Order: sequence, then structure tokens, then C-alpha cells
Amino acid sequence: MLHQTEINNLPHAYHIEHIRIEPNIILAPMAGVTDSVFRRMMLRLGGCGLVSTEMTNAASVSPKALKRHHLLDFLPQERPLTMQLSGNDADLIANAARIVEQLGADILDMNCGCPSPKVTGGGHGASLLRDLPKLSSVLKAVTAAVQIPVTLKFRAGWDEETLNYVETAQRAEDAGIAALALHPRTREQAYKVVPIGAVSPRCGVRWRFRSSAAAMSPTRWMRSSACAIALPMA
Ligand SMILES: Cc1cc2nc3c(=O)[nH]c(=O)nc-3n(C[C@H](O)[C@H](O)[C@H](O)COP(=O)(O)O)c2cc1C
Repeated sequence: MLHQTEINNLPHAYHIEHIRIEPNIILAPMAGVTDSVFRRMMLRLGGCGLVSTEMTNAASVSPKALKRHHLLDFLPQERPLTMQLSGNDADLIANAARIVEQLGADILDMNCGCPSPKVTGGGHGASLLRDLPKLSSVLKAVTAAVQIPVTLKFRAGWDEETLNYVETAQRAEDAGIAALALHPRTREQAYKVVPIGAVSPRCGVRWRFRSSAAAMSPTRWMRSSACAIALPMA
């Protein structure tokens, strides 16, 4: 949990590459929740500098599929907007990333945190934490495919025995990821427990990730179920 003074001292705005986030609060992606109507409602309240679509499977980003599910529909007033993809096939995700860029996303976020067995069973979401070389190749393929900033949302590890958030962050940086959002629970913890204390804004990820981009602390530190607060890199 951040202390009030730390919160007060955070910059009011920051950038992910050329995208300005002001105010410095990000609406967390939530499947079944953060659709266009919800995002516009949150923006009208004035508290978010960046909003996100729900997670969308990269295999469902063909023009035909988009007409069916409408998960990536948005209106011009929702900018800046992140679109979040999941998947584990580098070519397929790179192709989906190009489509997302053409659709007009300001930022593409890669999901490496979803704990749902339906998602991890297919090797997507948090499952990638068990195969970091594969995660690296996926991230490299995506950053090579698009001009827009690519960010990564990830968990602390698959379980408490295999915490690998520092290596994940380092690999993300090597792959050209512009910013990180760490959900400091393991996949095994899902949403059940208070996030593990070892993974805090002062942990390795923040200090060892050297890019000029921002890291985002998880929502729990702000006691909000829907927002993440931006922390500048050390
Ligand atoms: C209903 C629901 C749907 C979610 N869907 C997504 C999603 O699509 N993509 C994602 O990265 N995280 C998703 N999350 C995780 C949240 O973005 C957030 O990281 C998580 O709830 C941790 O915050 P908390 O401790 O305040 O719950 C979802 C969470 C909830 C509760």
C-alpha cells in the first residue's frame, strides 16, 4: 500500500512513449465490464487518463470476428485507449496487433496475467509465465509488428514457489515493451488474497526496469477495484 505522501508526490501526468496519461490513473481492463459504455462513464467522471478494452483473444481479431463480438468497438472520445490482447502464437498475435493498430488503438497491452483455466488452459494469459522464452518471442514479434507502444500486464509468477516477476520485466524491457502493469498476486492466488508483500512499488521490477517508460502499481495499493496508479521509473 502506498503512503499518502507517496501518492501526493506522484506526478499528475506521465507518458507512455508519446501518449500522455493525465490524470495518472488507468482504468484496469476487466472482461465483461470495461466495454465502451463503461469506459465513457468512467471518463465522464474525470478520474482516468487511460482506459482499456476487455481482454480479446488474438484469434478473434479477424474482421469477421470483430463484427460478431464488438469487443474492440470504441468511440473517438475514449482516447487515449488501450486494446488488450491475449494469445501465445507469435505470428497470430503479431497479425492481430497490426489489426488493432489499424483500428486506431493508441496502445496495445499484452495480457500475461489472466488466471482463468479457460485462458491458461490454452497457453494464454498467466500461463506464459511458465515459459518465459516463449513470452519473449511473442513480445518481440508484437513490438516488431506495430508502431504504437506495446505494454505488458503480468502477475508475480505462476505460484509462490516460482515468482519470476523480475525476469519477466527484464525480458519485457529487452523486447521493447514501453510500460509494465504488475498484478502482484500469483496465478494460483487468482483474486483471493491480499497481494504478496514482497512485490511492492519498491521491489525489483520498479528499480531494475531501466526504460524511460512508467510502471503501474496494481490496484490494491490504491484500494480501488478498477484503477491502477502510475509510478515513474526509478
Ligand atoms: C471481473 C474482472 C475482470 C477482469 N478482466 C481482466 C482483463 O480482461 N484483463 C486484465 O488484464 N485483467 C483483468 N482483470 C484484473 C484487473 O484488471 C485487476 O488487475 C485485478 O482485479 C487486481 O485488482 P484488485 O486487487 O483491485 O482486484 C479482471 C478483474 C476482474 C475483477
